[in-house]
Amino acid sequence: MIDYHNHVLPNVDDGPDSIDVSLNMLRKAQRQGITDVVNTVHFQHPKMYDKNVDYDYLVEQINKLQKVLNENNINVKLHLSSEVFYLPNLIEVSKNPLNTIGNGKYMLIEFLPGIFPTGYDDQFYKLQLEGITPIVAHPERYKFIKEDIDILKDWNSKGYIVQVGAGSIRGHFGDKIKTISIEMIKKGYVHLIGSDAHNDKRRNFCLKKTYDFLEKNISCEIVDIFKTNSQRVLAGEDMKSSKGSIDLLNTNNNFINRIKRRFKFLN
Ligand SMILES: [Fe+2]
Repeated sequence: MIDYHNHVLPNVDDGPDSIDVSLNMLRKAQRQGITDVVNTVHFQHPKMYDKNVDYDYLVEQINKLQKVLNENNINVKLHLSSEVFYLPNLIEVSKNPLNTIGNGKYMLIEFLPGIFPTGYDDQFYKLQLEGITPIVAHPERYKFIKEDIDILKDWNSKGYIVQVGAGSIRGHFGDKIKTISIEMIKKGYVHLIGSDAHNDKRRNFCLKKTYDFLEKNISCEIVDIFKTNSQRVLAGEDMKSSKGSIDLLNTNNNFINRIKRRFKFLN
């Protein structure tokens, strides 16, 4: 399993405040069967104003953490990328190798929860013209999406990738966000799940529990699509939509329900 979206590097953003906490997090990741962790440091977020996000510095930090992991027999491979805070400068920041992944194919982008991101469509279109596909992080936490989740249908048609947070599905941000996250998945709007792990407490890696929950409550095929898509991010390949699988599931469920109703009727 690959986790694409987390903050495991110590003391670079609002992730862990010590290497011990990073190790605890990554031990937990390994126990869940996560083999690859893409650390996505916050980039140009207002809370990063006094932080060093120089690419070479972060490469050094990730190599240092990888060395400590190896010394502690924690078999997780680290990768470096970022979670770009949305500003109307996406083309400019895409030149920084930190801000894209998969040979420059994808950029992970977050919005402020409560403010509509004016002009994002135009910025995303410009990115796409440059061959970069936007991945929108945790849309279930944005007010304008909570008010109308069918905006994601439009995003899907425009080729934006939708990444829901595992913690949201687990209910870490309340029942409302949990319900919305599951609804998004059941409508086939979602391509990817990311842990968005920040610490070794409540916001830790929880991919396995989330996938188990989704297998039990939605389908194994959906989880397969999410897992395969996380590999495609790293490989820089096109992602698969989950819509076809959801449509097939609904068709099958309707058929089974019709049979059940008929069986009940006959008895
Ligand atoms: Fe994040």
